[in-house]
Amino acid sequence: MSVNAVILAAGQGKRMHSDLPKVLHPLGGQPLAAHVISAVRSLKPARICVVYGHGGKRVRETLAADDLTFVEQVPQLGTGHALMQALPHLDARRDTLLLFGDVPLIGPQTLQALATAKRECLKVLTAELSDPYGYGRVVRNKKGAVVAIVEEKDATPTQRRIREINTGIMLFPAKRIAGWLSRLSNRNAQREYYLTDVIAFAVKDRVRIESCAPTHEHEILGVNSRLQLAQLERIYQRRLAAVLCESGVSVADPNRIDIRGDLSCGRDVQIDVNCVFEGTVELGDRAQIGANCVIRNTKIGADTWLAPFSVIDGADIGRNCRIGPYARMRPETRIADDVHIGNFVEVKASTVGVGSKANHLSYVGDTTVGRNVNIGAGTITCNYDGAYKHRTVIEDDVHIGSDVQLVAPVTISKGATVGAGTTVWKDTGRSGLVINPKSQQHRSDWQRPVKKASNKGGK
Ligand code: UD1
Ligand code: CA
Repeated sequence: MSVNAVILAAGQGKRMHSDLPKVLHPLGGQPLAAHVISAVRSLKPARICVVYGHGGKRVRETLAADDLTFVEQVPQLGTGHALMQALPHLDARRDTLLLFGDVPLIGPQTLQALATAKRECLKVLTAELSDPYGYGRVVRNKKGAVVAIVEEKDATPTQRRIREINTGIMLFPAKRIAGWLSRLSNRNAQREYYLTDVIAFAVKDRVRIESCAPTHEHEILGVNSRLQLAQLERIYQRRLAAVLCESGVSVADPNRIDIRGDLSCGRDVQIDVNCVFEGTVELGDRAQIGANCVIRNTKIGADTWLAPFSVIDGADIGRNCRIGPYARMRPETRIADDVHIGNFVEVKASTVGVGSKANHLSYVGDTTVGRNVNIGAGTITCNYDGAYKHRTVIEDDVHIGSDVQLVAPVTISKGATVGAGTTVWKDTGRSGLVINPKSQQHRSDWQRPVKKASNKGGK
């Protein structure tokens, strides 16, 4: 039978020193609490209840989904008090799994093990830590049965030496949860309603206490500070890098890749160091990504080479292209096969046809580029008149010289050649040469200014 799931996310996260509620800080591009929510969904719980408090509206709006029930906890009087708020929203016939919104790496396998109880019992997820400082300690009797959890602040020196800690993640038996919560009190060092006091109630009521361990040690790590957040981010990224490597991708250094969304790769893809992938990114077979590229919501075709330091956002790039180094693409860019886009070329809301090239220093915006077009260095599509954006059309087989301005709306017809340094503000005819008449002079009497000699070194 499936369970209720409650995710505690009301804490302020003081040690983050942030205006953003702690559970909304991103890990792998997703809010911390979103990771917990997706892990929990793997259990297909009857209810998923998120208890929020600090940053209330923002937490609710950011995490909103049809299958979530949001419950406000104001003021925050401890973990026990938080679960009490959720109680009326739970299915009373089912056991309740409690999770923390700031423990984001908890995995489905561990949750599955925790959520299946064969008989009535209180189940706690515990872990042995070499440095248990700050955690609640698991106290066992001589027979090895769990008898209490004591918080760091309430523990005796002997108890502080216990290395088995409470992860805080537990399964409560359906028939007991309401009674136990009503018995909690706040007579302790922090004047809070500690959820962990239910352990003592279970002992008193002779309800079995079972403990289980996480599949991986990192699953139980919590985020209390930015340093811990960064450490968890690296653990998370290393895991994603390992999955990529196992699936046949060459990742130059698994410690230097950041995937903040969904990255899918074909066969024999190569990814050099320090690349960042955001949103949904697809890399075709044998695609090569150079060092220090940032790629977002983009599809890159087979055999395409993205050279270092390129920033690509919202592009669909064909096969066998050569892009960068230092290329920039902005949303709604469609690049066909066999295209070259070189250094310091920016392409925005444009389509570029098969075999076309823009190799150096250009801006191609709101433009339709045909096939086999050559765009010379320093070509600018002047798409903005100060109020509106206009389109440029460059038909097949056009050759544009260097340092050309194309003042949109304008069409360069098939086969035309535009001479270097031309400003095109009228549609051109097919083939032939387009230039602005200019005259070149040579003034042989002209003198280049020369600095005057000075004792002080002068200016
Ligand atoms: C808690 C456990 C401790 C365990 C540790 C694991 C208790 C009393 N202690 O301690 O045994 O080792 O977690 O990390 O349960 N929260 C609310 N409302 C509140 C208070 C907390 O929603 O009123 C949420 C927080 O946002 C957080 C979680 O509950 O996600 C844990 O709260 P926190 O105050 O960090 O508990 P700890 O002192 O770390
Ligand atoms: Ca904590």
